[in-house]
Amino acid sequence: MNQFPGFEYRQDNLYVEEVDIPRMALEYGTPLYIYSKSALTSRWVELCTAFSSIDFLPCYAVKANSNIAILQMLAQWGAGFDIVSVGELERVLAAGGDASKVMFSGVAKREDEIRKAIHCQTGCINVESEYELTRICAISADMKMHVNVSLRINPDVNPNTHPYTSTGLKESKFGITSELALKLYTSIKDDPWVRPVGVDCHIGSQITETQPYVEAAKHVFEFVEKLEQLGIELKHIDLGGGFGITYDNEKPPAFSHYAEVITPLFKGKHYQLVLEPGRSIVANAGILVTAVEYIKDIEVNEFVLVDAAMNDLMRPALYQAWHTVLPVTLNAKRVDKVYDIVGPVCESGDFFAKKREMKELQPGELLAVMSAGAYAMTMASNYNTRQRPCELMIDGGNTHLIRRRDALDELWQNEILLPTD
Ligand code: LLP
Repeated sequence: MNQFPGFEYRQDNLYVEEVDIPRMALEYGTPLYIYSKSALTSRWVELCTAFSSIDFLPCYAVKANSNIAILQMLAQWGAGFDIVSVGELERVLAAGGDASKVMFSGVAKREDEIRKAIHCQTGCINVESEYELTRICAISADMKMHVNVSLRINPDVNPNTHPYTSTGLKESKFGITSELALKLYTSIKDDPWVRPVGVDCHIGSQITETQPYVEAAKHVFEFVEKLEQLGIELKHIDLGGGFGITYDNEKPPAFSHYAEVITPLFKGKHYQLVLEPGRSIVANAGILVTAVEYIKDIEVNEFVLVDAAMNDLMRPALYQAWHTVLPVTLNAKRVDKVYDIVGPVCESGDFFAKKREMKELQPGELLAVMSAGAYAMTMASNYNTRQRPCELMIDGGNTHLIRRRDALDELWQNEILLPTD
């Protein structure tokens, strides 16, 4: 269990900090997301401590988990935020975040999103194409307001991760080449409104080694030296996010190991380091609790049918991702089984685990799908007109409801019946 700090068995029941899960399931119903405040806090402290020897701005990637209570905690700790939409910007502001510490990433920002970002004096817009830069120049001139920009360069580094979460290769839709970036920085050097303040890259997600970061950072440093020679002095270097976590038996480096290889590159330089971690902060601070509805044995397969589904947590369906599934109540006397743990949605892709070895389960029992703090609730949908789960934040012995479950009639409240004669 030490891969999941904040979660432990006590007298055969799984606890989140000081609170037992069966009690929460009874009170709030299932499926439900539960987060451990101490697990989340310690990851943030670990990150900040690791990079404390240099000028460092951690910008939490909001897409990983955007619940405003989580953003509020991070804002109170002085975090910056990496956002990808005006919706995420508004969330950050609603949670008390500081716009001047916001990095606005994203490959296809709309004109209204750029306007809003400029209006709020967002810390930096991370630009991903020549056309986007032209658009930003025109909008800032029109608004007569300054805007800070960074260009996202593509270091062409292979992060050895899932192809869907690999984003720094030269054939990807993200970022631009260093050659084009050089030309674009030169073109805005004397722009009255647009200020080139940084350079950024993001090579992928769920990366479990330090080497790709070293390669990317070296590429970026070579690039900024070329800019320096042209008299363009940036303030920050943003190396993105992507730090992997343990879902199964991965052994990702600690933040301190990343710091050991990254900080020496910044020593003696005036650049601030920006990072955009998402998953590594929240993934292992959250679980999805679901109840077993039925056991269905069809000889070739034994299914555990649960009340959560792919609409609540779609990572297994989308990436064949592994999530550890634990029984909430231990019962050593039961026999060993091999199960497919599946949801009620009408798709074969609706599963949480396949051919998983577990102790025998009974209908009514609770399961905890672990590592569900990141890219879980944020990717949830109402498919099959299912209500998205509620979310709880546990702080020691205190339980805070941080999102109530969707009410059924909310699911069609934006829909309009056709007129009848
Ligand atoms: N910065 C940028 C520009 C990004 O595109 C991302 C993630 C991050 C930061 C944060 O990356 P992290 O530290 O969380 O790895 N839905 C997928 C992950 C998609 C990641 C997209 N970009 C999953 O469930 O694995």
